[in-house]
Amino acid sequence: MESKAEDRHITILTDVYTVLPVAALARGRRRVELDLGCGKGSFTTRLAQRDAETLVLAADVMIGRLRKLVKRNEREQVDNIVALRVEARMLLGIMLPDRCLDRLHILCPDPWPKGRHRGNRLLCSDFLTQVHRVLKSGGHWHFSTDDMNYLEQVRQVVAASGLFEERPEQLAALADLKSDFEERWESEGKTVHHHLWVGVEPPPVTIGH
Ligand SMILES: C[S@@+](CC[C@H](N)C(=O)[O-])C[C@H]1O[C@@H](n2cnc3c(N)ncnc32)[C@H](O)[C@@H]1O
Repeated sequence: MESKAEDRHITILTDVYTVLPVAALARGRRRVELDLGCGKGSFTTRLAQRDAETLVLAADVMIGRLRKLVKRNEREQVDNIVALRVEARMLLGIMLPDRCLDRLHILCPDPWPKGRHRGNRLLCSDFLTQVHRVLKSGGHWHFSTDDMNYLEQVRQVVAASGLFEERPEQLAALADLKSDFEERWESEGKTVHHHLWVGVEPPPVTIGH
């Protein structure tokens, strides 16, 4: 694939032995957030513009979308975003250190609505364990979708995990930020539902009586 000038601002992570040096990337900033599957990243840019003291990691597999994000960041002089071309399961499962994120956004992930494709959905119990691992104590996980069937599946897996507590009141701070897909779905008359969970300590495992 032909490389573009924007590519010098995109970190390509393919080596599974990489542990992302999140603290070093933050360069003294107080907070770290991740927009996982950021797409063209209008939400990501606006989030970063809100608080220069937050490092925003923007991750996607599609380089063309990351290039659009990088171009916008250059145009608008946003310098607290690090763009990562990486697969979501590799990033959360292997590359991110424990308890490194203040907030994780997974917005309008591909819903894979056909029954035979359901196994491709990102949100499953193994993945939720990794979401819990990478959140700091009290860290937030923000999820949105227009697909009620996917939402129901996510709610069931979250409830079964015992790892999260829902805190809808924490969504108010994000209500005015919309992702590209949210804008697109709303323009087509669809409703995008947002949820926010906080990581909690799992209940102790008791064996016997
Ligand atoms: C429907 S789009 C949503 C983009 C953005 N979050 C929004 O709401 O506008 C889903 C995005 O997730 C990315 N994606 C899908 N599967 C992924 C994976 N396994 N790892 C990383 N990114 C993924 C796609 O490339 C796409 O940009």
